[in-house]
Amino acid sequence: MASPQELRFDGQTVVVTGAGGGLGKQYALFYGSRGANVVVNDLGGSFKGEGKSTKAADVVVEEIRAKGGKAVGNYDSVENGEAIIETAIKNFGRVDVLINNAGILRDISFKNMKDQDWDLIMAVHVRGAYKCARAAWPYFRRQKYGRVISTASAAGLFGNFGQCNYSAAKLALVGFTETLAKEGVKYNILCNTIAPIAASRMTETIMPPDVLQVLKPEWVVPLVAVLTHKSNTETGSLYEVGGGHIAKLRWERSKGALYKADSSLTPGSIPTKWNEVNDFSQPEYPSGPANFMELLEAAQQLPPNDPGAPMDFKGKVVLI
Ligand code: NAI
Repeated sequence: MASPQELRFDGQTVVVTGAGGGLGKQYALFYGSRGANVVVNDLGGSFKGEGKSTKAADVVVEEIRAKGGKAVGNYDSVENGEAIIETAIKNFGRVDVLINNAGILRDISFKNMKDQDWDLIMAVHVRGAYKCARAAWPYFRRQKYGRVISTASAAGLFGNFGQCNYSAAKLALVGFTETLAKEGVKYNILCNTIAPIAASRMTETIMPPDVLQVLKPEWVVPLVAVLTHKSNTETGSLYEVGGGHIAKLRWERSKGALYKADSSLTPGSIPTKWNEVNDFSQPEYPSGPANFMELLEAAQQLPPNDPGAPMDFKGKVVLI
C-alpha cells in the first residue's frame, strides 16, 4: 500500500459533505492540496441542526483556492443529495469520491426523546448519506469508478446514554455501506465506513482539553485518503480511527448450539444449551449469515430436545 504522503487525486472530483468545519474541513483541505476538485458542502447550521449559512463552506473554499487548489461551495442540506452531486457535475464534469460526513446531534435521554429529535437525526445522517450516494451512483457505475466513505460512530456500535437516535442512525450507515460495497464492487465502487474520534465542536463540550489536544481531526484524514484512493482494494469494512489509532472491526459469531427443530423446541429447552449459545471459545468471523441449510440438516439428525425446567409466565403480560 502506498504511503498517504504520496497519494494524489489529480483530475478527480471529491464531494465532502459537512466540510465547513471539524473533520469535513480537514478532508476538504487535504483533497484540495492533492490535486482534486473539491465540492465543499455545508449547510452552515448549529451542531443541533438549527439555522443555515453559506459562510462555513465559503471559508474552506477560499482556503483551498488560496493555496492553489480547486474548490467550489455547496450549501444544500445533504437531504438534497442531487443538488450536491449536480454541483460537482456542473463545475467539474465528474464525481469520483463521496465522503458522507455531515452530521448533527440531538442528544436526549430516551424517556424524553421527541419525534422531532429522532426524525431530524435520521434525516441528516441516514437519508442524507442515502441521497448523496444515490445521486452519485449512476456516475460511478458509468465510469466504473467510485469511492464512498460513510461516517459511523462508537455510539452506533456500542450505544451511548442519551444518543439512541444518533446510535440508530450511525449503525444504519454500517449496514448501508456493507450493502453498497456488495452492489458496487463489480463497478469498482468501493465503500467503507469509519467510526472516527476527533476534536470538533461536536466533542469539545464533552471531552477535557488535554484529550481534545491529542485528537486532532487531521489525524483521521490519512486513513480516509487511503480508502478513497484509486490504489485501495478494501471495501465493506469498518474502521475505528482517531488520535493515531486505527483498528478494523468485524462481527464475531459464537459456535452456537443446535436444537432439534420440532415440537420439543420449547422455551424450557433453550437454557439446556445456553452456555453453548454464548460460548465464544470457538468463534467465527462471518461476512454473511450462518449456513442455515447445513445447520438445519444437522439439527434434524438430533434427538428431541431436553425439555429443561418449565418456564412460568403467570401474572406477566406477554406481547407477541
Ligand atoms: P462538526 O459539527 O464539526 O461538523 C459537521 C458538519 O456538518 C458541520 O460543519 C455542519 O454544518 C455540517 N452539517 C450538519 N448538518 C448538515 C446538513 N444537513 N447538510 C450539510 N451539512 C451539514 O462535527 P464533526 O465532529 O466534524 O463530525 C463529522 C462527522 O463525524 C459527523 O457525521 C459526526 O457524527 C461524526 N463523528 C464525529 C465524532 C467526533 O469525535 N468528532 C465521533 C463519531 C462520529
